Amino acid sequence: MQGLTAEIIKGLWYVALPGRDLKAGAMTAKTLLGEPMLFGRTASGEVFALRDACPHRGIPLRYGTFDGTSVQCCYHGWRFDKTGTCVEIPSLREGQQMDLSKICTPSYPCVESQGLVWVFVPRAGETPAEAGYPAPPLMPDFDAGEAPRFHCMLPFHCSMDHAAFGLMDPTHAAYVHTSWWFKKGAKKLRPKEKVFAPSELGWSMVRHELPPQNIAYKILGTPVTTEISYMLPGLRIENIRGSKMQATGLTAITPVNEGETEVHQFFWVSAGWLSAAKPLVEHLMRVFLDQDRVVVIRQREGLVHDPKLMLINDADTQARWWMRVKDAFVKAQADGKPFENPIQPMTLRWRS
Ligand code: FES
Ligand SMILES: [Fe+2]
Repeated sequence: MQGLTAEIIKGLWYVALPGRDLKAGAMTAKTLLGEPMLFGRTASGEVFALRDACPHRGIPLRYGTFDGTSVQCCYHGWRFDKTGTCVEIPSLREGQQMDLSKICTPSYPCVESQGLVWVFVPRAGETPAEAGYPAPPLMPDFDAGEAPRFHCMLPFHCSMDHAAFGLMDPTHAAYVHTSWWFKKGAKKLRPKEKVFAPSELGWSMVRHELPPQNIAYKILGTPVTTEISYMLPGLRIENIRGSKMQATGLTAITPVNEGETEVHQFFWVSAGWLSAAKPLVEHLMRVFLDQDRVVVIRQREGLVHDPKLMLINDADTQARWWMRVKDAFVKAQADGKPFENPIQPMTLRWRS
């Protein structure tokens, strides 16, 4: 975690993009985890992900065209289906048959769930089931077909470790997220005490009641309870339940490479009338996320000099847990053993 770059974890599901950004018959290219990927949605609605490189001469397939069934390379017109298998080589003449099924660009397991396109990035050709993670996680309280009502994504000029620390940093909000509508400043820090417990790929801040003075949550109908889960490969899922409605927030960090990260924020809410406020809500989400983005750009000015960094007691315990969970996961992968969560139940105390 010390430097500008961080080790990327493979063998897990990552958020690639919101499903609504990928129309039927369209494709879009993204580099994720250092790999060039081409995402597409067939005319019949299925999403897919291919390595964005033509096996003939390596040119990115994104420069070609997609007819809703196959991607045609821009260079010599070879066509590839959604599994990445070659289905046509226009230059072949009679008597020049080739086994096209042996020609392919690699494909990535790719699924759409709850309105998100997830991609599985294997370590060495392993399937998600072989890796032990057959499907991406489900957001609590919402159906598999239910898309998030709100989304914003900003590219962060930092490694996935420093982006992850931001997800689980309980004491920066009073200094970084200062707005008239959120926190006015760090004048009134309150003592906090929260119970944490290990979960499948990380840990949770155990469900607890929010303070009644929390205005944002009053629309949910008091009492309001919340549970926040943090898990590899960089997901923070906050599930808020009120007497009138439920909301689930997902912050997902997806590394572009070892030193760049995409940070997505999604919200599912049970109240349909909130859709009318979408432009305002997504604007406020962007303002909030941009405050985190700016702080890591400033942090970068210091990190280029490779300073020794500190993680202090309770306030930074979750950052330490992130490194421990990540290291344990990578070691278990290398040893070919099941991951054992090193986190123990604990109560943490801080002022924020
Ligand atoms: S480089 Fe793609 S078809 Fe030749
Ligand atoms: Fe933040």
